[in-house]
Amino acid sequence: MPIDINEILASARGRQFDLFSDHVHPQWTRVLRTIGFNRNYVGAEGPHLIDAEGRRYLDFMSGWGVFNFGRNHPTIKQTIKDVIASDFPGWIAFDAPILAGELAKELQQRVPNELERTYFCNSGTEAVEAALKFARYATKKPGYVHLKKAFHGLTNGALSANGDDSFRAGFEPFLPGGRMIAFNDLDALERELASGDVGAFIFEPIQGKGINIPDENYFQEAERLCKKYGTLMIADEIQTGLGRTGKFVAYEWEGIDPDIVLFSKALSGGYIPVGAVLMKKWIYESVYSSMERAMVHATTFSMGNLAMAAGLASLTVLDDENLIERSRIMGEKFKVGLKALQGKYELIHEVRGRGLMLGVEFGKPKSLGLKTGWKLIHKMDQNLFPQAVVIPLFDDHRILSQVAGHAIDVVKFLPPLIVTDEDLKWFLDGFEAVMKNLHKFPGPVWEVLKKLSKHAMTARSREQSKNPS
Ligand SMILES: Cc1ncc(COP(=O)(O)O)c(C=O)c1O
Repeated sequence: MPIDINEILASARGRQFDLFSDHVHPQWTRVLRTIGFNRNYVGAEGPHLIDAEGRRYLDFMSGWGVFNFGRNHPTIKQTIKDVIASDFPGWIAFDAPILAGELAKELQQRVPNELERTYFCNSGTEAVEAALKFARYATKKPGYVHLKKAFHGLTNGALSANGDDSFRAGFEPFLPGGRMIAFNDLDALERELASGDVGAFIFEPIQGKGINIPDENYFQEAERLCKKYGTLMIADEIQTGLGRTGKFVAYEWEGIDPDIVLFSKALSGGYIPVGAVLMKKWIYESVYSSMERAMVHATTFSMGNLAMAAGLASLTVLDDENLIERSRIMGEKFKVGLKALQGKYELIHEVRGRGLMLGVEFGKPKSLGLKTGWKLIHKMDQNLFPQAVVIPLFDDHRILSQVAGHAIDVVKFLPPLIVTDEDLKWFLDGFEAVMKNLHKFPGPVWEVLKKLSKHAMTARSREQSKNPS
């Protein structure tokens, strides 16, 4: 009997939060309800989501960086339909998938350096796992250096390279050999590499948690040190790649030559999970050194036809619509707009990022009233202040954005690269209105923050009384 997916969607609509809470993830449902993100979306188009009442939302979060090309891009959608309609066989396992060969070739042509081999997988964290394994095997050095605030995914190896206690705590022991150092600290890097047993230095060219950008020459110097001590550079481009920062890969801004480069997220065109690990030939040849070792690292669902086709279509859209340049141009307009507001609103301390990966950092204000509010809220809870931006942006202006990490006052924006001038105006008008309200102290925004802080404190003490250790 055929199933009617539209009927399933229609009959569950409006009940999805109860359904999800009962059967999937009740804590996440509580979060969504607390911050008022429990909406009833029924459609999507480009940078917009559409709810059951036909209202449009501006998506400046892009599903954590998946929708570089917008939602439901017609070219990508059609390509996937064509693959399904063709009945072309996939996952034969004992075969050489045509589309994998094509996608690897296209990726290799687009990166600025020589990365002649590709390993495909299904997600970002899986790409990181492969890279750490390959670096360890190829160099015969078990150590790896990673950065504070780094985010590379949450499986065991990737978590071992994470740079934030809020993700790590309680999941020890990690993969042995990890050394965490501060971003932009070259002395610390040299100290660790000099031990001689470090096979990999893994980094995001721009850190997603906090939108931290490298100091000038940091990565060039890091490259010199890695070469000197025989350490491989792993560039995690899972969020920054595929045009996000106004280059195909963000390490092009640095002019470096990493040994292993990771893609995922936008490469799926927002349809099918995919991950890709590009590497120098000698690394591949070291891991897959013989026919006996041809399956020494593999995964069942890699190189699926739909994922490979989505990747090929995504790269075509990137080229045809000139989206790398567009990311640079629209990113510049966006940054100029945000910087103009920085001059007007004292809580805005910095606007930073590249292309369409931007963050706004808030900081302690000078005026007395605001300073009182700032101190009070931060004393109650280190995580809450940015919600005073994200929640009203969503509630009052229907703009989706995200807090950029734990215990930092940074809000982050990842609009699709196809964003228009009208979308930017929608955003900047909304953001300015939010800033205006936020700069009124006392005022309703601060009252909401106080309420949220109290709520969080009560939840924390409830947790502590349940787990006193
Ligand atoms: C830079 C970076 N690396 C790795 C990952 C992990 O990817 P995934 O969530 O697909 O496992 C992410 C996810 O946000 C990321 O931003």
